[in-house]
Amino acid sequence: MRIQSVRGMSDILPDQVGAWRYLEQIVQRIFSAYGLTQIRTPIVEDTELFARSIGNVTDIVEKEMYTFEDRSGDSLTLRPELTAGVVRAAIEHGLLHNQTQRLWYQGQAFRHERPQKGRYRQFHQIGVECFGIADALMDAELIEITDQIWKELGIRDCVTLQINSIGSTEARAKYRTALIDFLAAHKDQLDRDSLARLERSPLRVLDSKNDSTQALLRSAPSLMDYLTEADREHFDLLRRALKDADIGFAVNPLLVRGLDYYSRTVFEWTTEALGSQGTICGGGRYDGLVDHLGGKSTPGVGFALGMERVVLLMEALAVIPDTYRTQADVYLMPQKQACEEAIRKLARLLRQEFPSLRVLTHIGGGSLKSQLKRADKSGALFGLIIGQSELESGHIVCKPLRGGEQETLSEAGLLKRMSILRDS
Ligand code: HAM
Repeated sequence: MRIQSVRGMSDILPDQVGAWRYLEQIVQRIFSAYGLTQIRTPIVEDTELFARSIGNVTDIVEKEMYTFEDRSGDSLTLRPELTAGVVRAAIEHGLLHNQTQRLWYQGQAFRHERPQKGRYRQFHQIGVECFGIADALMDAELIEITDQIWKELGIRDCVTLQINSIGSTEARAKYRTALIDFLAAHKDQLDRDSLARLERSPLRVLDSKNDSTQALLRSAPSLMDYLTEADREHFDLLRRALKDADIGFAVNPLLVRGLDYYSRTVFEWTTEALGSQGTICGGGRYDGLVDHLGGKSTPGVGFALGMERVVLLMEALAVIPDTYRTQADVYLMPQKQACEEAIRKLARLLRQEFPSLRVLTHIGGGSLKSQLKRADKSGALFGLIIGQSELESGHIVCKPLRGGEQETLSEAGLLKRMSILRDS
């Protein structure tokens, strides 16, 4: 029996990897333009870290973590998200003492969910965490970064932004009591899931997908009415800053998110184009988390986008440039064994003159026809051919592979032709 990949954990194959690289390059360029620096943390952390940060009574911690005992008997967990590890590292290495940090990261996360399109057990996130800035302008700037990513990827028209403020801890505590009273008085109208949530994590009832529960929630007390004056000002400033930046949004008072560490701002970007797994990015503020994990109280705010979902959307909208789908720009073909040295010399020259040009040399002989087939498959724009007569005259045949006239060029002429390719 052949061994298969683990269910819900996919390989990213050579013909898919271009889309990923394109996404990474755009995102990393934008991060650098906003002055963010990268942090890399381990995939495995102490189980306690996630239980304490994400919350014991969340789906992630209760049902979805890959937890195991290692050979020393320690309980370890494959990270279900990256925020907790970044906060741990920032505290552990003193990155939060009298300084602000704007960090980005990228990597795998693991959740034992039921796999379907857009939902996997191993998936990849790219995200940002900023520490030391309580101002809502920081929240707005993070949202602006995500908006910029969608714009540069060409998917902005297909995504919408929802925001909410879930207030400070005191506001939520008061609201929680009011919500429990309300829901307890209408238990008969709640679905089974919501009844369970009411016992353990009442705010999560707001997240219910059940229609009759949603209908009931329309007359439930609203979290907005319980925000403190400072919470309200914070949320007002965020909305003003988003308007100033011309970023459209909808306030969704039922948006609470599935992790316990949030306070005040929460947001999600969603799309209709991917079916039920339409949330491509989520984030928010977590002013109590650093303190809760044993650090000196420090405000924090961040987001993470799901790379698989963004790539699916990019593919659906066909926004990935061709050069990210192909292997080579030029494909060099020696027509006889005697021409092989000349071809390799030419390849070295091209790589030296044009470091970003992708130069693939044919190895292994074969007819011109079969070599051209390979050239075509590589996605190259030009085939460069040296046969006996070119070897003697010092010329190169330059054959456009996507339409256009074939030319016989000198080395200098070829370099000129290739520089046009580079500039186009
Ligand atoms: P999250 O909403 O749990 O937030 O995940 C962020 C994104 O990861 C989701 O919007 C989704 O695109 C993607 N994602 C989540 N689960 C899966 C899955 N099973 N398969 C594929 N994609 C998935 C967080 O993880 C927070 N750490 C975000 C954050 C950072 N908040 C503050 N800072």
